[in-house]
Amino acid sequence: MIRITTVLAILSLSLVQMSSAMAQPPPKDPNNYVPGLGDLMGSLQVQHGKLWFAGEQHNWLLAAYAVDAVKEGIADMIVLRPRYKGESIVDMLTLLTAKPLQDLDEAVEAEDSALFIQAYDLLTEGCNVCHSNHDYGFIAIQRPTAPAWTNLRYRP
Ligand code: HEC
Repeated sequence: MIRITTVLAILSLSLVQMSSAMAQPPPKDPNNYVPGLGDLMGSLQVQHGKLWFAGEQHNWLLAAYAVDAVKEGIADMIVLRPRYKGESIVDMLTLLTAKPLQDLDEAVEAEDSALFIQAYDLLTEGCNVCHSNHDYGFIAIQRPTAPAWTNLRYRP
């Protein structure tokens, strides 16, 4: 009797394992690869870093380019990864970044360092508000202390 229940238990366990294996998503199609949100965030992190040094060095042309790259990164997320864990992140992405990006545009246009720093910190705060909101408070974004990419000249 004990044996039969044990066998049944093992059988039902392997059935559960089988069905969870079948519930796995199909293998990725290399011709239709869509980067994950984490990948897109990694690119955003790079642009966020470059933007700081461009602004710090008053390289306004490079700063304008980096602001556009941040905007494009966010636009890509809205199109490619609008949902995270089943919930839309579009409103949050827009709400948290629109104002600082507009201020960054103004700062770069006016070559205004004080406004640049203020807008940059506001953008960074937006990154962290969303991370905290999604239980990723440990992904804390800050002003970079040294450029990650030294093959790019930040001085104008
Ligand atoms: C609307 C919400 C939201 C905003 C705004 C946001 N993030 Fe994220 N970020 C996330 C989520 C969610 C993850 C976790 C993604 C994952 O692990 O799949 C993440 C992950 C990351 C990671 C880790 C990626 C990795 O795998 O290494 C970095 C770096 C990052 N974000 C940078 C930024 C920067 C820089 C900004 C601001 C310019 C920003 N994020 C703004 C939601 C957001």
